[in-house]
Amino acid sequence: MIRRAHIRDIAQLGRIINDCAELGVMLHRSLEDLYEHARDFHVIEDEGQIVGVCGLSIIWADLAEVYALAIVPSHRSKGLGRKLVQAAIEDAQELGLARLMSLTYERAFFKKLGFEVVDRLDLPMKVWSECAGCPKNQACDEIAMIRQLDVPPIHAPKPASPLSTMVELPILIPPAPGSFPSDTPPAPGLALEKAPDNSSDGSSGD
Ligand SMILES: CC(C)(COP(=O)(O)OP(=O)(O)OC[C@H]1O[C@@H](n2cnc3c(N)ncnc32)[C@H](O)[C@@H]1OP(=O)(O)O)[C@@H](O)C(=O)NCCC(=O)NCCS
Repeated sequence: MIRRAHIRDIAQLGRIINDCAELGVMLHRSLEDLYEHARDFHVIEDEGQIVGVCGLSIIWADLAEVYALAIVPSHRSKGLGRKLVQAAIEDAQELGLARLMSLTYERAFFKKLGFEVVDRLDLPMKVWSECAGCPKNQACDEIAMIRQLDVPPIHAPKPASPLSTMVELPILIPPAPGSFPSDTPPAPGLALEKAPDNSSDGSSGD
């Protein structure tokens, strides 16, 4: 049975995801992260056990990502992965998202489901926000694949692309000590008022 994840499923689906992550095919997910994003997930239940999971994350106005797709080894090659991706497609279409992407090693599987390989640099910068915590960060070999959905495109602001953000930022070098003359007057409004000197009037100040 395919259905939306319930909070009570999270620990079990987390184990399925993290078992796959141990094999290097997806990112580890903490329970904290999974509870926060519990509404992203569809699961497949068989005899009371969760045997498959798939998340859908919205990236931008026209793009969502299928992530953490995993079927337990005993239940693979039975069409369950296809069912979960189909559920994500329906979800994305219902939300009005025109494209669905995946970062994956399972090129042949996603090809069968209508996804095409695209240049990773065509994806918005936001896609890579999770990479900071990935051990493969600088040597990522996942393939980016996208499927167009049956949704008319909408007008929306453009996301930052990885290329457009790779600009060199100017480095501000602090002035060397003594490089400003000591008699330079302070900028208007920045002069500190001198505290009244009460030391010679004999009052204790109490
Ligand atoms: C990838 C994965 C989700 C596929 O799930 P599955 O339930 O075994 O796949 P399905 O049975 O739904 O397969 C759908 C189609 O894809 C094909 N397919 C599935 N895996 C394939 C593979 N590795 N290579 C080639 N074709 C594959 C199937 O033969 C089937 O084709 P058909 O419809 O013509 O018969 C599953 O193998 C898995 O959990 N792998 C480990 C985690 C992982 O790598 N997830 C992907 C992260 S993005």
